[in-house]
Amino acid sequence: MATDSQWTLDSWRSRPIAQSPTWPDDEHLARVERELATKPPLVFAGEARRLQEHLAQVADGRAFLLQAGDCAESFDEGSADSIRDKLKVILQMAVTLTYASGVPVIKVGRIAGQFAKPRSAPMEVIDGVSLEAFRGHIVNSEVFSPEARRPDPERLLTAYHQSVATLNLLRAFTTGGFAALSRVHAWNQEFVSNSTEGKRYAMIADEIERALAFMKACGIDLHDDAALQGVDFYTSHEALILPYEQALTRRDSLSGDFYDCSAHMLWIGDRTRELDGAHVEFLRGVSNPIGVKVGPKITLDDLRRLSDVLNPQNTPGRLTLISRMGHTRISDTLPPLVSALADEGRAVVWACDPMHGNTFMASGGLKTRHFDDIMSEVSQFFAVHQALGTWPGGLHIELTGGDVTECLGGGSRLDEGDLDVNYTTICDPRLNATQSLDLAFHVAEFLRDYDTSGATSL
Ligand code: PEP
Ligand code: CO
Repeated sequence: MATDSQWTLDSWRSRPIAQSPTWPDDEHLARVERELATKPPLVFAGEARRLQEHLAQVADGRAFLLQAGDCAESFDEGSADSIRDKLKVILQMAVTLTYASGVPVIKVGRIAGQFAKPRSAPMEVIDGVSLEAFRGHIVNSEVFSPEARRPDPERLLTAYHQSVATLNLLRAFTTGGFAALSRVHAWNQEFVSNSTEGKRYAMIADEIERALAFMKACGIDLHDDAALQGVDFYTSHEALILPYEQALTRRDSLSGDFYDCSAHMLWIGDRTRELDGAHVEFLRGVSNPIGVKVGPKITLDDLRRLSDVLNPQNTPGRLTLISRMGHTRISDTLPPLVSALADEGRAVVWACDPMHGNTFMASGGLKTRHFDDIMSEVSQFFAVHQALGTWPGGLHIELTGGDVTECLGGGSRLDEGDLDVNYTTICDPRLNATQSLDLAFHVAEFLRDYDTSGATSL
């Protein structure tokens, strides 16, 4: 098999590559790659290894993964406020899940590098004009003009610099006091706090504060406890633009292994997971934790072979399978996959992406998703795992911290007429902060009710 051949940093270049932009000037791209290869890494190998240890706990049913953030980050929106608000809602969700379930929550953002998008068609046609599809700001712009749509390698450098700035701020927020558990109330944003979800969250925050005050009164000084003073927050994105990923891959001096230092975790999308394709080839050789999106068309045989290639040692935490079947299909398509992998003793994390299988076009022409469909997929995901006695390891969500109107329903009860009030995504519709918190409360209940004593029946 082709994948038995030797892996090198650029062995992916001799494989068929899906979803690759048509770069107009190869020499320009090569120059940018050389420049990126001299830049400092965004993350360290040791951090990626630590995330893998956390994910091993998830694979073992002892922790829960919350992976969340933008569908596509924008070069026009990297302000401190928008990063802080995204972090706030993820921290709120994580606290809600932890408090209700008693299970540690591993926090991974779709952030600080989530700039590339796979597309259903390579070209977009409007009024008879055909241009390269928008592929995310790391490649081109969403504006529909020949100049804006031309893939520009300079954008790889802009993506790198914006990721550096975003990650720098995230590191400051997560270790510099902002994320201390004693500030649990401060993560409730004003526009959320008046909603039912915001009030429910404030009650949990009150209880956590009372518990902290009680401990303090007992003489336990929580100021010394690093776990309560900050959080481990990891970054991830789809490893789609391989020239960028290769240029940021470094050999770790400690282990001698290669790590893609553009993010802690990288995933392969549902459209780029061909076994002999370039994306699988590249990612099999880096030692970061890897995700693979698992859509309804995958076969059990594909999945087995992907696990063999990407995780040949069956290392717990190395491989996260992100199921994105759609609420009408998950109950048929997911159980045989989960069951077979469990029978074969494969130590994978199963996470649920209830977003990408549930997108539709609203009557006004905007892409949307309904909160009820999202909830339905998550609830079936838990039911499948409960029936098989396997662990529903995590949730993979597209959200933003703002008060956007992109998904229907949920706590804010948005309907199709509300969509254009504040529809700002440059790609897929995201949950707003209130909807995200609403989802977290439901998932917290599923986690609390999950019976770890074994399989029931399907
Ligand atoms: C995504 O996560 O933004 C995405 C495009 O997902 P998928 O590969 O599952 O379609
Ligand atoms: Co998306």
